[in-house]
Amino acid sequence: MLVRLLYASRPAAPLTAEVVESILVHSRAHNARLGVTGILCYDREIFLQVLEGGRDEVCELYNTIVRDSRHTQARILSFEEITERRFGHWTMGHVDVSTVNPSLLLKDAERPVLDPFNSSGRASLALLDELLATAVVTGRSG
Ligand SMILES: Cc1cc2nc3c(=O)[nH]c(=O)nc-3n(C[C@H](O)[C@H](O)[C@H](O)COP(=O)(O)O)c2cc1C
Repeated sequence: MLVRLLYASRPAAPLTAEVVESILVHSRAHNARLGVTGILCYDREIFLQVLEGGRDEVCELYNTIVRDSRHTQARILSFEEITERRFGHWTMGHVDVSTVNPSLLLKDAERPVLDPFNSSGRASLALLDELLATAVVTGRSG
């Protein structure tokens, strides 16, 4: 059974590009072994991550991620059973929000910032879909 989990969190402290890159490198190797795919968006104040895969794998991975001291205030925005993956080409795609066209962020928001804490899970997922469509996601695996 496949599920999709979307959550947001806040970096516990400002992270360097190297730390974010090391999270991505670890995630791509580990998630490939678990059959988990997804996207990690990062800006200086927010992480927004979607995880797709088997229910056990996604739940266990989320339990691990949520205990990671590099971020805090994790909030599940959406959890659903799915029949097919939306982010299957990414063992962990990456969006650097600073490279995103502000008009995309403005579509459902009052200001051109990533603000999943004040948006519905549905709106945040829709934003991820748009990011895929505009090809700002890096790290495609195939
Ligand atoms: C925002 C964020 C997202 C993460 N995403 C993943 C992920 O998708 N897959 C993964 O294996 N680790 C991810 N991690 C890292 C895990 O929290 C954890 O550090 C790692 O799995 C621990 O691996 P270890 O037990 O082998 O040291 C993430 C960490 C953070 C802060």
